[in-house]
Amino acid sequence: MPKNTLTITDNRTGKTYEIPIEHDTIRAMDLRQIKVADRDFGLMTYDPAYLNTAACKSTITYIDGDAGILRYRGYPIEQLAEQSTYLETAYLLYRGELPTRQQLDRWVTGVTHHTIPHEKIKNFMEGFRYDAHPMGIFVGTVAALSTFFPESKQVFDPEVRRITFYRGVAKTPTIAAFAHRYSIGMPYAYPDNELSYTGNFLSMMFKGTELRYKPNPVLERALDILFILHADHEQNCSTSAMRVVGSAQTDPFTAIAAAAAALYGPLHGGANEAVLRMLAEIGSKDKIPAYIKRVKAGEVKLMGFGHRVYKNYDPRARIIKRTADEVFEVTGKNPLLDIALELERIALEDDYFVTRKLYPNVDFYSGLIYQAMGFPTDMFPVLFAIPRVSGWLSQWEEMILDPEQKIARPRQVYLGEGERNYVPMEEREAVTATRS
Ligand code: ACO
Repeated sequence: MPKNTLTITDNRTGKTYEIPIEHDTIRAMDLRQIKVADRDFGLMTYDPAYLNTAACKSTITYIDGDAGILRYRGYPIEQLAEQSTYLETAYLLYRGELPTRQQLDRWVTGVTHHTIPHEKIKNFMEGFRYDAHPMGIFVGTVAALSTFFPESKQVFDPEVRRITFYRGVAKTPTIAAFAHRYSIGMPYAYPDNELSYTGNFLSMMFKGTELRYKPNPVLERALDILFILHADHEQNCSTSAMRVVGSAQTDPFTAIAAAAAALYGPLHGGANEAVLRMLAEIGSKDKIPAYIKRVKAGEVKLMGFGHRVYKNYDPRARIIKRTADEVFEVTGKNPLLDIALELERIALEDDYFVTRKLYPNVDFYSGLIYQAMGFPTDMFPVLFAIPRVSGWLSQWEEMILDPEQKIARPRQVYLGEGERNYVPMEEREAVTATRS
């Protein structure tokens, strides 16, 4: 009868240890008993960038990166993109089950009731320079929400958590749209709660002098699909930031700001912006081979390609590609699409990308849709952050309620100097000179 254990022999001492295996993992703390001498600290694992470390147990999102599978609470992303709405998906992520009609109606009303931010938020945003990047404004303003809702610090109060979820999901599109309108000098458009979540967001972004903005239903639905696809993605960089900051029992608005800060980076949610800038820099199909050459020489990265988890086609990219066709029928084709398609074709045949299993990720085509819809390039990371708020808050709540979680605090392998005596200033030169 095979045993669900791992036997380790420490060749330094000849001692053997038997460690339980649960869910194909061993507990890193079980390694601490492995010592040479009693006063040793014990064995640790070394895993920079957490390539092979599970930091939590979760029931929210499942990814099989080799097979290109993504599911929220067990439901395939393809079915949700086809049949669900973003707010219903947010409910699913947060509550664990699809809502009944009545539950969904209450949920939508709950979110809709919280779309208007405090008027002082506008004053706060006006402190930014006129040309501030909207993601910078977003990060700063979301953090400021914690000062408007100090009760959000009561992280163990379920009622406070519920209302914080509504506020987070409801206010972030308003903040995002205000950030955009501020940066182009347009008066703010207040939420129109008669519209859908994405319809209202389009209205706050693009409303001109008309009394009521009428979103194009194809674009409204396409944005809703994009929001579903971006809602969660298990323990990525920004979600890990949310959990790490939240583990200190920091209020969730401040933790969302930290998560959004992580998302801002070009290797994460900032990649959609970087893809568009890359496609514009390439400029035409005939310049692609030269660009690929630079990628292979390690001079630049092919933005929107590669993923830590997916070693297959990102299932979200496949859905986005289909959605792009529907959007382009309304908006006209984005001229950069041909470059993107040709880039993908060449890359998927090239040995460099094939051997490294580099496929288009969620960000490769999303920017083309956003641009065709009229969103400026620097809004793209913000468009990623808005729907991810529901995922971040669901993951945060799971972390807060998990009895196994504590304040996140990794270990290090210290390789610096041993103890040495302080050197007075006048005696220092000789020491520092040897280092510079
Ligand atoms: N272009 C060129 N080469 C790449 C790319 C790329 N986009 N991505 C990975 N590689 C290469 C690496 O140079 C490395 O090659 P090597 O083995 O010769 O050194 C190999 O592929 C493995 O890549 P890693 O960097 O080890 O992969 P990692 O898991 O650390 O990084 C990441 C994943 C950050 C997404 C990376 O693929 C990347 O930088 N892609 C471009 C940015 C991007 O699109 N980010 C969005 C990701 S999706 C999201 O966050 C929503």
